[in-house]
Amino acid sequence: MLLTSCILLLCTGLLDVSAAPQQVPFQAPAVAKPRKLHGRFLHITDMHPDPWYHQKTSEATACHRKKGKKKKNKAGYYGLPYSDCDSPFRLTNFTLDFIEKKWASEIDFVIWTGDNARHDNDRKLPRTPNEIYDLNRAVATKMASVFTSRGIPVVPSLGNNDVWPHNIMIPGPNSITNEFASIWKTFIPFPYLQIFQRGAYYAVEVVPDSLAIISLNTMYFYDSNKAVGGCQFKDRDDAGNLQFDWFEVQLKGFRARGMQVWITGHVPPSPGNYFPECYVRYVELALRFQDTIVGHLYGHMNADHFFFLEADDLELRDPPAAMGKEALFDTLIADFRAMPKAKNINLDNYAVVNVAPAVVPNPYLPGFRVFSYNATEGATSLGRKHGHPRGGGKNKEKQCKLDEYRETWKCKLNESWHSDPDAPSRSNQLWTPLGYAQYYIPHLEEGNKSHPPSFKLEYVTYGKGALEGKDDVYPVPLKNLPSRIKKRQTPYKLEDLTVGSWVALARKMGNSTKLGSFFKTYMYMT
Ligand SMILES: *[C@@H]1O[C@H](CO)[C@@H](O)[C@H](O)[C@H]1NC(C)=O
Ligand SMILES: *[C@@H]1O[C@H](CO)[C@@H](O)[C@H](O)[C@H]1NC(C)=O
Ligand SMILES: *[C@@H]1O[C@H](CO)[C@@H](O)[C@H](O)[C@H]1NC(C)=O
Ligand SMILES: *[C@@H]1O[C@H](CO)[C@@H](O)[C@H](O)[C@H]1NC(C)=O
Ligand SMILES: *[C@@H]1O[C@H](CO)[C@@H](O)[C@H](O)[C@H]1NC(C)=O
Repeated sequence: MLLTSCILLLCTGLLDVSAAPQQVPFQAPAVAKPRKLHGRFLHITDMHPDPWYHQKTSEATACHRKKGKKKKNKAGYYGLPYSDCDSPFRLTNFTLDFIEKKWASEIDFVIWTGDNARHDNDRKLPRTPNEIYDLNRAVATKMASVFTSRGIPVVPSLGNNDVWPHNIMIPGPNSITNEFASIWKTFIPFPYLQIFQRGAYYAVEVVPDSLAIISLNTMYFYDSNKAVGGCQFKDRDDAGNLQFDWFEVQLKGFRARGMQVWITGHVPPSPGNYFPECYVRYVELALRFQDTIVGHLYGHMNADHFFFLEADDLELRDPPAAMGKEALFDTLIADFRAMPKAKNINLDNYAVVNVAPAVVPNPYLPGFRVFSYNATEGATSLGRKHGHPRGGGKNKEKQCKLDEYRETWKCKLNESWHSDPDAPSRSNQLWTPLGYAQYYIPHLEEGNKSHPPSFKLEYVTYGKGALEGKDDVYPVPLKNLPSRIKKRQTPYKLEDLTVGSWVALARKMGNSTKLGSFFKTYMYMT
């Protein structure tokens, strides 16, 4: 993309903003020839390369030392599946080389949601900031050579293992934001560099004036980060609140320009992961801007799943129970089962979060996914309707007078919502997400020096019909499909990834042990 290469030139030497000469105003190239869009993008997450990984070592040492005894816990050449070990760099390279060969000419942009350093899981070998930065720099260099060099925008976000000590990040500017401003200098558009140095968040217009990606720094919302305040209403300078203020301004700006956006980050917005007040602000923005946000893409959990953000979460009652990692499947299915009947569902009240599985085979198998979206030329977005006030209820007004609630976000957020059944998140049109194909390596343990492992199609959200009898372009290129598509690879049969399609799938899953068991199989890669 012209924009990116222009940024590359502009930014060299300008990174140290304070030392920079008179700032050159950012100029979009006047005659940027629009790229031909393929209607697809990659989501890749949680690579966790580990420079200390050694073949044949024992899982008990995080695959760093000692000979593994049983095959089950002995480090393999390309990694140890279903284990506590991170990835050999060989697996990171293998994955990106594979994607380069099969996908680089088929996608429009890349969403890359963090954790590019090993876990802090070996007391004998503590991590250092330099090791973390070196690993991130190595992966970023590789991402740039695979994608940026071809004009494909890459949009990274910061993981909880990309900072030292892990999970902890103080408000910026600090050494972390400075270091990543440098490591990601080819990915962050120049106009966002300054705000990036404050908080490590930014946005990229992957299709200029039409489609943008917002990359959030979820470290300021994540309740394991004890260095921030957790978005308390009265603490307006809290790093999380400042990020939400920025996020809101971005959404307003993109909405005013008639654009659509994907929201991306590392730690998914769930009651179990976010500080309660940060969670409330996230849900409120997700629903208020439902006509502008086409989806929410996250990593961190290393388990394939989706869940809903609901208007109910903004009511004054106990927050939904935190999701335990062990019981993730049971919690979600119970949620799906409890959804109202179709005719009682108001889709204004839902947003969908998609969590992609990891590249690291810890604790399952390596994977990546490729989304498709409606890029049909001429399929123009409809004009956005005006917002409508949301009902808070008399009861809420009364309760909000109580000391307990008065100064909380639930009682302060009163803006009209922009939900619209004709928006791209609700009905298939230009920029609407259509589906995804999930790939994985089912037999990682069989890979060795002479016989590399292979990525296979795990499943798609599409029905079989959508993949067959089409030309070679939509939605999955034929060369990336198996010669025969099995029934178990297409159980969801979703026509698109609108809010309504996800809600209908969840309701069906809640009532069907068969569909539920597919969901579970994909989650735990069994
Ligand atoms: C991974 O690839 C990079 C270049 O793309 C190369 O410099 C590096 O040596 C490779 N590492 C391994 C372990 O293969
Ligand atoms: C919305 O809340 C703000 C304070 O957060 C308040 O100043 C304003 O009057 C409220 N507006 C309405 C219509 O309730
Ligand atoms: C894209 O949206 C248009 C409506 O604007 C629709 O006619 C078309 O079928 C959609 N494309 C796909 C592949 O779903
Ligand atoms: C590598 O794997 C292949 C296929 O799994 C096997 O036939 C071969 O013997 C293995 N080579 C070594 C050196 O283990
Ligand atoms: C599940 O099935 C039961 C009975 O068959 C029905 O009453 C209920 O509404 C269904 N729930 C959903 C979410 O479809």
